[in-house]
Amino acid sequence: MISSLRMAGIFILLTTLALAGCSTESPKEEKTTLRFVGWSFNNPEAWEAIFNAFEEAHPDIRLVREITPHSSTQFHALLSQKLRNQDSSMDVFLMDVIWPSEFAAAGWALPLDNFFSDEERQKFLDVPILANTYQDKIYGVPLFIDSGLLYYRKDLLEKYGFSPPGTWEELVQQAESIRDGEQSAHPGLHGYSGQFKQYEGLICDMLEFVHSNEGSFLDSEGGRALIDSPQAVEAVQFVRDQIIGGLAPRGVLTYQEPESLALFSQGNAVFHRNWPYAWAIVNDPERSQVVEKVGVAKLPHFPGGRSVSTLGGWQLAVSRFSKQPEVAWKFVSFVTSPTMQKVLALQAGRAPTRKALYEDPEVLAANPHFRDLFDIFLTAHPRPRTPLYPQVTNTLQAYFSAALSDPESDIPALSQRVREDLDRILAPSQGERSD
Ligand code: GLC
Repeated sequence: MISSLRMAGIFILLTTLALAGCSTESPKEEKTTLRFVGWSFNNPEAWEAIFNAFEEAHPDIRLVREITPHSSTQFHALLSQKLRNQDSSMDVFLMDVIWPSEFAAAGWALPLDNFFSDEERQKFLDVPILANTYQDKIYGVPLFIDSGLLYYRKDLLEKYGFSPPGTWEELVQQAESIRDGEQSAHPGLHGYSGQFKQYEGLICDMLEFVHSNEGSFLDSEGGRALIDSPQAVEAVQFVRDQIIGGLAPRGVLTYQEPESLALFSQGNAVFHRNWPYAWAIVNDPERSQVVEKVGVAKLPHFPGGRSVSTLGGWQLAVSRFSKQPEVAWKFVSFVTSPTMQKVLALQAGRAPTRKALYEDPEVLAANPHFRDLFDIFLTAHPRPRTPLYPQVTNTLQAYFSAALSDPESDIPALSQRVREDLDRILAPSQGERSD
């Protein structure tokens, strides 16, 4: 299946390249250099193909790409240093969905309203457009959307007569039964794999647990912390006792997306939480032992709660310090075009931000869950939208990490302290919040 997808993607690229060949070249003219800063993606070949196609289509532009290690948290540190230094050599950068408010308020990202028309914005899903909007201006063009999904071993659930779990308790019971039943055949099988290292991914996973128990990090105005509510505390306790202390190997406390996916794709976990891209990898025979043995479902919830997926995803933004925003825009519009988003969907399993691609037969054939679970993309839950997000996330990351890694931790007491810290952080921001 994957190889035919690759072929389809390559066909699109070749068509693009052929069209590019028709454009009038001026070989004598000096090339303009455009510098793009991004992080290292899970399917580097797909991105390389897109970058090459851009250069083919724009023979007058030399694209310099600076690719950093995988991790939103590390990438944020690198990018904010460049922006703080007003580094004019960087023109375009990838921006996590949680950064537009911060980068807009700091004057780091260029408002794109003159380039990105209302009419064009209508073609995108609403949630990422809203996430890129700060005080009525737009600061990024959504490239792909992420939302948390539950991957499960279809073959094992069927063998034991289970349907995908509706509640977290059901997930625990199913995983325990399967693990016990497979004990002699597969002693290394774990029940669950997710992202619990102290970094941004931890916030995404924990938001899904806390919100699916009707808890919340902050109140709806974003001005007060609610992290010590009984629902939030109960969800954190569940993760510590049942997931970290039960279904998952303790190693998950050091796992980001790639390590947690490796455990699952090597056949060593029953359930796995990840973003849409994992689908292409678990079905790639070169990278997976569980090809065609995997199903995708909504994440479970606690009794009385509802399933919640964190909104993730990446945007292209133009640096306020770029000396050539028009050239930068050429790159942004090329990479976020329907053709290139389709390449990313076919070759890298990335969920498009353009609505029309959810009706594209090839995209749906390669990613059937884009149709079955479409509402997850429409209703994905954002992390707090505030220019103070870096302080908020650092405080929450330290709390969750401490609470989860120590089996004896006093979670109610820790949560109260964190609530006070967050309230202090948020207090001066009253006038600055975006929503
Ligand atoms: C994914 C998401 C991003 C999130 C990150 C956490 O890359 O798209 O929004 O912050 O994971 O690891």
